[in-house]
Amino acid sequence: MLRKKENINIEGERFTFKVFRFDPATDSQPYFDHFLVIAEKGMTVLEALLNIQERQDPSLVFRYSCRGAICGSCGMVINGRPNLACRTQLSSLESREVLIEPLPNLEIIKDLIIDMKPFWKAYRLIEPWLMPRGREARGEHLVTEKNRAQIDQFVGCILCACCYGACPVVSRNEKYVGPAALAKLFRFVQDSRDKRDRKQAFKRLDNKDGLWACHTVFRCTEDCPKQVRPTDGIEGLRRRAVAVKCCGSKKEKVLKENEA
Ligand code: SF4
Ligand code: FES
Repeated sequence: MLRKKENINIEGERFTFKVFRFDPATDSQPYFDHFLVIAEKGMTVLEALLNIQERQDPSLVFRYSCRGAICGSCGMVINGRPNLACRTQLSSLESREVLIEPLPNLEIIKDLIIDMKPFWKAYRLIEPWLMPRGREARGEHLVTEKNRAQIDQFVGCILCACCYGACPVVSRNEKYVGPAALAKLFRFVQDSRDKRDRKQAFKRLDNKDGLWACHTVFRCTEDCPKQVRPTDGIEGLRRRAVAVKCCGSKKEKVLKENEA
């Protein structure tokens, strides 16, 4: 649970971290370890885990890199909700007991480290790069302010997989492409410079593991730490796919121009 205010002084307060542990090489089943952390001013969950690793148990493993909510590598479940450890202040937590678990829906390699292969496989499937043609392929080609605003939230996705871990559809269907990949595809088809073959792009995902798998539960949107709304992207893609299928690319172009 998060507090409403994050600027409460928690310096010197004692936090008990209950941390998920599992090493498939030696453990028959997962267990939780308890660690006491004395909070420092402005301490984040990532800093608390580093503190544990440095001073209490060097065998605890987790991923991180930028420490600035940019690289997306420190996604984990903090008190029951997926979030970035580096952007979660201890002062924002309601409880002095902090439950730390790995992201669900992905195999555990060790402790808080999950195997991201299925996530990246789904991401590659949507061909996540700009496909300009003709004039757009040469040199600088600017987008309008309106078009940039239309794709802004999706550009902000850092591929942390928090939405993938939160998604109840992924938990039941491991073949589902997942919210992050679909939101990224929407980012590209909505970009005025992208000239990919829409029919081909949608055909690949026109099945029960692609565009039509989402049950619109909104867990991805609720748990995205970067305020991306993957559900909006999925709905946008569905509208486009239907337009292309029924009425051809002209109708799809009209939808693209009018997308809020
Ligand atoms: Fe992470 Fe949000 Fe992107 Fe999902 S949509 S991968 S939660 S930044
Ligand atoms: Fe890069 Fe948290 S360490 S997002």
